Amino acid sequence: LPGDPEKGERVFRKCMACHAVGDDARNKVGPELNGILGRTTAAVEDFSYSDAMAEKGAEGHVWTAEELDAYLADPKGFIPGNKMAFPGLRKPQERADVIAYLAGFE
Ligand code: HEM
Repeated sequence: LPGDPEKGERVFRKCMACHAVGDDARNKVGPELNGILGRTTAAVEDFSYSDAMAEKGAEGHVWTAEELDAYLADPKGFIPGNKMAFPGLRKPQERADVIAYLAGFE
């Protein structure tokens, strides 16, 4: 499913209370998401991840587009015990669009 980064920028508004991207991105309630495509899970050094998220990273899990799609569809189902208080994005197109937007930040 091809994503549209411009539409994804609007979808990312749902994430911005907790996540930042871009040059000035800092950790908020959630970790900064620069370079998330291809990034190992739970890799931001100064962010305090849940044990569940940290264990997923320790297993060698990497955020590919496919893995992000599965996580964003059902965050608690995909990584039980993780502390992201977000129900997920039900619409596949919204997930594809926000992933395409995130791919633009290295
Ligand atoms: C973790 C994406 C919405 C809070 C993560 C991670 C991703 C992500 C990819 C894993 C980061 C890593 O491994 O370094 C998104 C996207 C969102 C969204 C794309 C919107 C569609 C939210 C919202 C909140 C939130 C609204 C707060 C209410 C968190 C927290 C974590 C996290 C606290 C760390 C979870 C843990 O350590 O268990 N998010 N997120 N996120 N997110 Fe989100």
